[in-house]
Amino acid sequence: MTAAVSITNLSKTYATGFTALKGVDLEVRKGEIFALLGPNGAGKTTLIGIVCGIVNATGGTVLVSGHDVVSEYRKTRSLIGLVPQEVSIDAFESVWNTVSFSRGLFGKGPNPAHIEKVLKSLSLWDKKDEKVLNLSGGMKRRVLIAKALSHEPEILFLDEPTAGVDVELRRDMWEMVRGLRETGVTIILTTHYIEEAEEMADRIGVINHGEIILVEEKRTLMR
Ligand SMILES: Nc1ncnc2c1ncn2[C@@H]1O[C@H](COP(=O)(O)OP(=O)(O)O)[C@@H](O)[C@H]1O
Ligand SMILES: [Mg+2]
Repeated sequence: MTAAVSITNLSKTYATGFTALKGVDLEVRKGEIFALLGPNGAGKTTLIGIVCGIVNATGGTVLVSGHDVVSEYRKTRSLIGLVPQEVSIDAFESVWNTVSFSRGLFGKGPNPAHIEKVLKSLSLWDKKDEKVLNLSGGMKRRVLIAKALSHEPEILFLDEPTAGVDVELRRDMWEMVRGLRETGVTIILTTHYIEEAEEMADRIGVINHGEIILVEEKRTLMR
């Protein structure tokens, strides 16, 4: 079976001369929850940025469902949903408009039934006409996830989804992620919390100083 994401000898040196990724090899299987675990500055966001086409690699290749992220950018980007680490969202739009607009950015035609399903699954349905501005921090996070799911991606990236989030929302988030996996979506999340990786992931990759130190089934690693 084709891997969801296949990364070979990936390196990144920023314009400052700092090398954030040093020859990373990694395969994420279709349908799994994969946690990329590492401390701040390890290179997690850089790695995600390259797969999502936001950051240019210095060397190596990345395939998403067998498609090259550079030469087949449009195709790979349409297969991916990204929930970014930093909350960036149009505060003055309604929830419904924000999420519907995101779908359009990927060249997909309107599909109100899908948007409705996504909003309901994230308990945002009764907030659909509310301005994003008026939502709590936790609700804003849910809107980011709804945006990332608006175009029916096969692979969802969550970059530090629960950093700075209270315990209750963290629980909800974990539940939502499990629910998504049930629908066949491959999930790749980054975290610097060991307990988050332990709670969520099927497999865990540990990254430090731009190198993957190990990749292991969660059960094996925790033992
Ligand atoms: N645009 C940039 N220019 C220079 N250095 C950067 C840039 N973005 C990130 N870095 C550096 O690359 C390293 C990895 O950063 P990042 O991928 O954000 O790590 P993580 O997400 O694991 O915290 C850090 O040392 C960071 O300072
Ligand atoms: Mg990061």
